[in-house]
Amino acid sequence: MNICVIGTGYVGLVSGTCFSEVGNNVTCIDLDEGKIERLKQGIIPIYEPGLKELVLKNIEEGRLHFSTKLEEGMKDAEVVIIAVGTPQAPSGEANLEYVENVAVSIGENLNGYKVIVTKSTVPVGTGQRVKSIISEYSHGKHEFDVASNPEFLREGTAVYDTMNMDRAVIGVESKRAEEVLTKLHEPFNTEIVVTNVETSEMIKYASNAFLATKISFINEIANLSEHFGADVTKVAEGMGLDKRIGKHFLQAGIGYGGSCFPKDTSALIHIGREVGEDLTILKAVEDVNRQQRMKIADKVNEVYPDLKGKKLAVLGLAFKPNTDDMRYAPSIDLIPYFTNKGAEVVAFDPIAYENAAKEIEGLQYSTDLYETIKDSDAVVILTEWDEVKKMELSKVKELMKEPIIIDGRNIFNLEEMKASGFYYASIGRPT
Ligand code: UGA
Repeated sequence: MNICVIGTGYVGLVSGTCFSEVGNNVTCIDLDEGKIERLKQGIIPIYEPGLKELVLKNIEEGRLHFSTKLEEGMKDAEVVIIAVGTPQAPSGEANLEYVENVAVSIGENLNGYKVIVTKSTVPVGTGQRVKSIISEYSHGKHEFDVASNPEFLREGTAVYDTMNMDRAVIGVESKRAEEVLTKLHEPFNTEIVVTNVETSEMIKYASNAFLATKISFINEIANLSEHFGADVTKVAEGMGLDKRIGKHFLQAGIGYGGSCFPKDTSALIHIGREVGEDLTILKAVEDVNRQQRMKIADKVNEVYPDLKGKKLAVLGLAFKPNTDDMRYAPSIDLIPYFTNKGAEVVAFDPIAYENAAKEIEGLQYSTDLYETIKDSDAVVILTEWDEVKKMELSKVKELMKEPIIIDGRNIFNLEEMKASGFYYASIGRPT
């Protein structure tokens, strides 16, 4: 099948590449000439394990192409996928400017029947808006269908998630579009949920909002557990074995960050407000999440009420491991908080340090874990990087001024930490 993907961000690049990997002929379009030139040489703008290899392989095998010219990508395409960004506007709603601009260009370049798919996360009703823009700008000269096919990939495991998707959701308005999109997903050997466009758009928001709810829920239980000497990791294990609850996304910590959960929960609350529905659960989810990242600051304050002259080694800058993404990363709030209180902060991150330096003024960082830890008065863990999980605790203890670890990600075993002689405070577990 010939496919045109518009937008080479996370969603566009990963899904375009994976669609080419299963045998389609894919052209990825982006306005950014420099980015397209680099992609043609296999230089990837984001850090995502396995993506570079897959891009290079499919370029070499002639199935994956990059261009700045939409007409080139659309000419022979049966499916055109919109995968441009929908950033959060100051009001909390999704900004649809890029999606609407792309719809205009698609209308202008339409040269025959195509299925126009929205993959970007868009408010319910956007499919109809895209349809009316394309109709207007194509002057009714050609038939087309609009469809919704949301993406459920996670950063850091994006290629794996796409190649092994739990399900594909296809929102369509015609049998013809359903057949095209079903065929497109056949190689993924996955369950396909066929709905109308609006339901599919809702499934995407509801899925992210539900996962965010699970995280805020377990964080509340974590905070409560601390008062009673209960261990939230065991609570989650005990709950998660019940199939109705499920074990995933019950890891307590310093709350969710990233480009999706904060943006999508906020957009859904906004969508509700517009139609007079007050989404009280989601508002509470946001409140819990906002407060949760400061729990780690409270735990540092408990040990050092005065941070002046103290050196803190912050381990992890990115919002989660295996990404250089700093969007809504807890480190953005916490590092300035510590430095404003007079602490000297040095941070470790294997990848996100350059992006972090753009977000955090005067950031001191190192890519050497043990160098970061040397002479520190406390280690503060913000991201569960493998390097941090596997650090040699005896060496850490030797290097530190005081053996104090404040862990926002619950990565160490309590007994082990006790035996190693650390003061170890984590989230929702006995200290
Ligand atoms: C999320 C969803 O998981 C994807 O299914 C979805 O496609 C994506 O958003 C999107 O809409 O594009 P992502 O933001 O990449 O993916 O990352 P997650 O692995 O879901 O983690 C999000 C945040 O939740 C991170 O800050 C992570 O630390 C936190 N988290 C996750 C927890 O605090 N506890 C958990 O148990 C799980």
